Amino acid sequence: MQENNKSFPKDFLWGASSSSAQVEGGYDCDGKGLTIWDVKKLNPGTCSFHYASDFYHHYKEDIALMAEMGFKAYRMSISWARIMPTGEGEVNQAGLDFYKKVFKECHKYGIEPIVTIFHFDLPLALQQKYDGWNNRLLIDKYVAYCKVLFEHYKEDVKYWLTYNEQNMTIFYGAFDMTGGTGKFQTLNTLYNQAHIQLVAQAKAIHLCHELCPNAMIGPAPNITTSYPNTANPIDYIAAMNMDDLRNNFYTDALVFGEYPKSVYRYFEMNDIKLDIHEGDFECMKTCHPDFIGFNCYGNDTTKYLAYYEQDLDSLENADNRNMSYLRALGEKPGIGKACENPFFEKNRFDGNAFDPYCIRVTARRLSDRYHLPLIITENGYGRADILEEDQTIHDPYRIEHLRRTIEEMKIGIEEGANIIGYCPWSALDLVSTREGISKRYGFIYVDRDEDDEKAKHAQMKRYRKDSFYWYKKVIASNGEELY
Ligand code: BG6
Repeated sequence: MQENNKSFPKDFLWGASSSSAQVEGGYDCDGKGLTIWDVKKLNPGTCSFHYASDFYHHYKEDIALMAEMGFKAYRMSISWARIMPTGEGEVNQAGLDFYKKVFKECHKYGIEPIVTIFHFDLPLALQQKYDGWNNRLLIDKYVAYCKVLFEHYKEDVKYWLTYNEQNMTIFYGAFDMTGGTGKFQTLNTLYNQAHIQLVAQAKAIHLCHELCPNAMIGPAPNITTSYPNTANPIDYIAAMNMDDLRNNFYTDALVFGEYPKSVYRYFEMNDIKLDIHEGDFECMKTCHPDFIGFNCYGNDTTKYLAYYEQDLDSLENADNRNMSYLRALGEKPGIGKACENPFFEKNRFDGNAFDPYCIRVTARRLSDRYHLPLIITENGYGRADILEEDQTIHDPYRIEHLRRTIEEMKIGIEEGANIIGYCPWSALDLVSTREGISKRYGFIYVDRDEDDEKAKHAQMKRYRKDSFYWYKKVIASNGEELY
């Protein structure tokens, strides 16, 4: 085989990610409305999203640090309630100005913003007034919000992402984990939300093509591939059906304008009936996303599971950090359930199992299925880090995790995966969805703890972790220098 050390394309979008609610803070600054995440029920001992990493006041310093690492891209999201405090109607000029300044700062260093339009933080007023995504009216609300963004940032944003991890809010959504209401939702409710959200995204993609002809737009689901637990054909079929339900349902809708047939079998078993309106599928079929963004932290392993009537009552009010909670929600009777994979690698520094092949495998599968460019919008390793007395942070476990993943991703590209960018989670430490600020993902350490009162007045000094210097080398060498 020919020696090939140029597998990352010349203009590869090296960068990292964040989301508004998890990084910005300033939850009530300059006219911003409340979001469902500002009032979200928190796990005991974890901070709120009110002050987060205070990117709102530190963005210049943070973007300068990203530039120092050599970022070509920064994947971030816009807070809908900063732009439209109640999610509809009047626009908040201060909110519009904030993101304009952020984009300007990025461009100053040649960093391309990759902008998620919606990353979990629904304006609270839309939840309270319309019952959130249960109401088809949300399609119009979302598209009106997109219109403001497309018109205002036409010159600033080249890459748009419609919706972060829509599929996770459905797949694990029985207790509205990400929405934060904690309310039980039936499968029928969830899949009707999914349909509404997909039509909304399709309409946004049409609108973006019309208003921003030079921009590219795509979805940002969390995609994993299911490895069959054994070579038993029944496990292989379970893995295929799991892929259809967890992943292909969302991407097939936006690329092909249809849902996978196997999912209709699941719908029948579970008495799920979608409220489909005339033109919905046509709108999806003709929207043509320009790329697929996807988050990928590790692939799943699936074992066949016969149908039974699932009773999730005992999970109400459970601490959602608990793995057994997540495992129970990931169990899909009639399809399969997730199980441990003994072949996963062990991180040499902390012994934790991980799947460095996740992007290589999943990106190849997506390239074969959709023939579209791919941007990795999240990947990474969250855990506690220690700020040493000499102000260093040694995170060899994170470097190892990312290095092995990038090594495999590189081979994936050589094998045909059309990946054009890699934005691991996260650029700087930010508040985890369920585990506060103690679970850190960043290349940049943010000095704060779980105490909100302290955070309110804290300086939140930034420090470069070892992984910061390592990633800088990776980017400078276009992915060749990984040690
Ligand atoms: C993704 C989300 O699910 O994973 C992010 O898009 C999230 O918002 C990230 O923070 C890591 O998950 P967690 O639960 O560790 O914060």
